[in-house]
Amino acid sequence: MANKNSLTITDNRTGKSYEVPIEHDTIKAMDLRQIKVKDDDFGMMTYDPGFTNTASCKSKVTFIDGEKGILRYRGYPIEQIAEKSNYLETAYLLLFGELPTKKQYEEWEYNITHHTFVHENVKKFMDGYQYDAHPMGMLVSTVAAFSTLYPEAKNIDDPDTRLHQVHRLIGKMPTLAAYAYRHKMGFPYVYPDNNLSYTGNFLNMLFKMSEPKYEPNPVLERALDVLFILHADHEQNCSANAMRSIGSSNADPYVATAGAAAALYGPLHGGANEAVLRMLAEIGDVKKVPEYIKRVKAGDFRLMGFGHRVYKNYDPRAKIIKKMADEVFEVTGKNPLLDIALELERIALEDDFFVSRKLYPNVDFYSGLIYQAMKFPTDMFVVLFAIPRTSGWLAQWLEFLDGPDRRIARPRQIFLGEDSRDYVEIDKRK
Ligand code: CMC
Repeated sequence: MANKNSLTITDNRTGKSYEVPIEHDTIKAMDLRQIKVKDDDFGMMTYDPGFTNTASCKSKVTFIDGEKGILRYRGYPIEQIAEKSNYLETAYLLLFGELPTKKQYEEWEYNITHHTFVHENVKKFMDGYQYDAHPMGMLVSTVAAFSTLYPEAKNIDDPDTRLHQVHRLIGKMPTLAAYAYRHKMGFPYVYPDNNLSYTGNFLNMLFKMSEPKYEPNPVLERALDVLFILHADHEQNCSANAMRSIGSSNADPYVATAGAAAALYGPLHGGANEAVLRMLAEIGDVKKVPEYIKRVKAGDFRLMGFGHRVYKNYDPRAKIIKKMADEVFEVTGKNPLLDIALELERIALEDDFFVSRKLYPNVDFYSGLIYQAMKFPTDMFVVLFAIPRTSGWLAQWLEFLDGPDRRIARPRQIFLGEDSRDYVEIDKRK
């Protein structure tokens, strides 16, 4: 009698049956390796390009139920965190598993705030980039360059050294991002103002001109903080997977973060909100929306900001952002592209093409409209995603390093190339 918590697999090639244990509704891929036709066979593998049904780790950080549209950080619903918390507290929660006490929070805020300054050399790195370089390209390579400034970061098994790099990365990302922006604009760099909040200081480093003290608009400061909360982590997405994968070779956290940020840069991941804005600008008029949808359905291109690998329902982050947009637009004036976005959403949500494929607006559909209204240039959007996601990447990285399954990431392949053949001299090749 088979154990109830197991799967019985019959190999019809041999007629042999195998009993494989089930844990957390999952079987271990290595348990399939015993399934062979001949003794010297390699054994059965699973094939899963894009990891659509493969758990790459066990995690306690972020929970998503894509069918129901649920997102929780360490058990707390995203709606409650977005309403009641702030980004720095959220980062603490993601990294350490619990909300901080007042004392823990003050210490954490102090440590992050006192790591916002960057080495003066960083200005020289920045000055080396083309005047019109994409800020995300500058961010990715300058984070990697931190590895050269902090060689002790290689000591990844020392908890104090690790924590020090966590403070540095979370503290310095906004500074790097702001420097990249100021370089692009040809403006002088602005040093951090440690009397301001995390997002208030970021706005200061971006937008301060000749005024002696920059005063962030409280509505915009809070809106940016909520956007940072919503972007802080999203379990095993492409960039988190890159972070864990690079981290699995024991690389230091700066180069691992640079690799994760590079993964985020792509238009199918964090680059999507930039693509949404370009799409809305290209449509240009509410009247042109039906024609655009027709072309999406014909397969000419995708509707950017729609669809998600995990969410098969309205992305809960998009709901929060959509609601917040009104508060922001009250301060900044309405973004004229909003009407096009609303019409796109209305038509798409009634259309069987989108309904049957469960394609709903994702986090990127409305965030770009807010960023644009706040005067961020389009190419800064993905940078605005990378700053808060740094805490998520680091939480995933720390969990990996301390976990029981710490091994180098090294997938298998199904080899379909040529069998062994002899080298042909160049003058004999056809
Ligand atoms: N517009 C039109 N059709 C789409 C879209 C879209 N945005 N997304 C998916 N589809 C269709 C796709 O053509 C396919 O149809 P069919 O079954 O007829 O071939 C079906 O839906 C399933 O698509 P898929 O490519 O298998 O889905 P995926 O899970 O591999 O891709 C995705 C997920 C997010 C890459 C994709 O939905 C997409 O390209 N969306 C647009 C880009 C975007 O908004 N990305 C931001 C994601 S959220 C932020 C983040 O986490 O980074």
